[in-house]
Amino acid sequence: MKLDTRKIRAMKKKATKQTLQMLTCYDFQTAQLLNDTELDLVLVGDSVGNVVLGYDHTISVELDTMILFTKAVKRGAPDKFVIADLPFGTYASLESGLQNSIRLFQQSGAEALKLEGAYPFECELIERLTQIGIPVMGHIGLTPQSVHEQGGYYTHGKDAASQARLMKEALALEEAGCFSIVLEFVEESLAKKITDKLKIPTIGIGSGKHTDGQVLVINDLLHIGKKDPPKFCKPIGNVFEFKKKLINEYLK
Ligand code: KIV
Repeated sequence: MKLDTRKIRAMKKKATKQTLQMLTCYDFQTAQLLNDTELDLVLVGDSVGNVVLGYDHTISVELDTMILFTKAVKRGAPDKFVIADLPFGTYASLESGLQNSIRLFQQSGAEALKLEGAYPFECELIERLTQIGIPVMGHIGLTPQSVHEQGGYYTHGKDAASQARLMKEALALEEAGCFSIVLEFVEESLAKKITDKLKIPTIGIGSGKHTDGQVLVINDLLHIGKKDPPKFCKPIGNVFEFKKKLINEYLK
């Protein structure tokens, strides 16, 4: 069953089970595979910069790159609700944000866009995008496009000031019209409070088990790369070693 924003909004957590499962995807063949599974949501994340293109961070990812990869995923996963990340610098102002969002949405065929942050100008952009028919997923906590400004990768919401700020941001994103919000590296008890307070689903990564859903980078889950995945992700296999073994056997 292909989801839409109404169905996604209705998937607030029932009892204790996390009901929404989202994985990243960047290429046609993996998208075909995911299309054949029960997975709820596919994210073409700007993490494509790290895991596919080998950059140190997501800042180098450009709009045309997101369009190219999202189109490939859409061709492979026609039955999935696909979300594309707006990359760094493409929504630095309301006008550029509108133009670049329309381009990404229209040219890639994604069903929704995701953007990081909840400053007033970002909330204004989200409000305008939803008004013109572009659904938006929010993203707060650790926002990798701001790694230099945030001062590295770490858990957010550990002190009272940052807890209050994150709660305020989550409510502002809901008010602006987001159909769901990613909570990345948000302290577990705060992620629970935000999840309980919001009417829209929260999707956590490194934020504990109380969010409405989980998102993982597929390359971490399958251990596709050489490097060990981050600690919060328990890989379900080691595709890197498996493929290496096959190639070595072939070469014998
Ligand atoms: O780019 C990405 O993969 C993401 C997820 C980690 C949420 O934004």
